[in-house]
Amino acid sequence: MKSIKDQSLSKIELKNVLLRLDLNVPLDNGKIIDDTRLHNIVDTIIFLLRNNAKIVIISHVGRPKGRIDKKLSLKPIAKRLEYILKTSPDTELLWGSGQNVRLLNDNLKEITKENIFINKNEKIVMLENIRFYEEEEKNDNNFAKKLSSLGDIYVNDAFSCSHRSHASIEKITNYLPSFSGFQLDEEISALKKITSEIKKPITCIIGGSKISTKINIIKNLVPKFDNIIIVGGMANNILKFRGYPIGKSIREENSETIVNEIFKAAKKHGCCLTFPEDVAVGKNKEDSRKIKEINEIKEDDLILDIGPKTINKIKKIIENSKTVLWNGPAGYFENPNFRKGSLEIAKKIKEKNEDNSFYSVAGGGDTIAVLNLTKTLRYFNFSSTAGGAFLEYLEGKELPGIKALN
Ligand code: 3PG
Repeated sequence: MKSIKDQSLSKIELKNVLLRLDLNVPLDNGKIIDDTRLHNIVDTIIFLLRNNAKIVIISHVGRPKGRIDKKLSLKPIAKRLEYILKTSPDTELLWGSGQNVRLLNDNLKEITKENIFINKNEKIVMLENIRFYEEEEKNDNNFAKKLSSLGDIYVNDAFSCSHRSHASIEKITNYLPSFSGFQLDEEISALKKITSEIKKPITCIIGGSKISTKINIIKNLVPKFDNIIIVGGMANNILKFRGYPIGKSIREENSETIVNEIFKAAKKHGCCLTFPEDVAVGKNKEDSRKIKEINEIKEDDLILDIGPKTINKIKKIIENSKTVLWNGPAGYFENPNFRKGSLEIAKKIKEKNEDNSFYSVAGGGDTIAVLNLTKTLRYFNFSSTAGGAFLEYLEGKELPGIKALN
């Protein structure tokens, strides 16, 4: 894999660089809840500016499924990135006055390499949410070709999207000299180190709301870990499988076979599976917290966090672990009433981290967001911006976006 940081000035100077980033930050009604992913890609942008390149940012936010959805516009994200760059001490010398991160709302078909920048002074533009085009997720060849026609070189600095075979991640590399960015390099080298030096007993905590992305991965992770703790939306499928009522809570349809396989694999490989014994519910996401046993859930209840018994059980498991990998919040963290599960897990990890023989890693945009909100991210030895990609990497899979760069 060739990194952009090792390329000579002649390869970058005056070039249009198509820069794939993962700006899929948690949004609440268009408001950014956590901007860690934006801060993490500043080094690559500064490097490109220093080498006198022009930057075309490509990213997605959310899952608009090939349709224009104004709620999933990159507008607030372009504004925030512009602010971060303008206030970064490193950009002071490079950033001419009035320089913006201009969001291009035009249809891609109308954009050309010649008209994409207003004038020679403009340095950064951002394409609108690339998932507004159905061709993106289809890894469409012509779409990738069109995208590539806007640039001279391509840089992937979106490790957290590299598990997706999408046009702006994979197919595009067929058409342009392609390189990895600073953030992607850093994530891969840290994850390589972690996986080669990992100490047992290993506990993996898997939560969050992206059930479909993660549920199929768990089975392949079972042989690698001593404990897998399933919390968040993911746990609802387990509870339902076990015959407990889950009310209106989110779940993945038709998951019985895979959940059954997870249990069978856990038995075969001696991996202890833990899931909630009690939960915190609300009647809607804005509600306050009410603790219930898992057999007490009413039809109009939403499971939004784990309860105190479950928290204690998880703390004991962490106490007896040497490594903890955490991916996905334990509850609906956007509402502070449902952050307690995640906060208590983070506090226990903090306590264990005082013991030098313990190693902890947090991964995923929402996990990082909840740890920032509860001011506990600094207690982790390493944090990865990647969620699904992080789990697939742990699974031992070659990620399509990384393979394409290779
Ligand atoms: C992420 O947040 O993990 C990436 O942006 C990928 O998002 P996706 O799961 O919607 O593909």
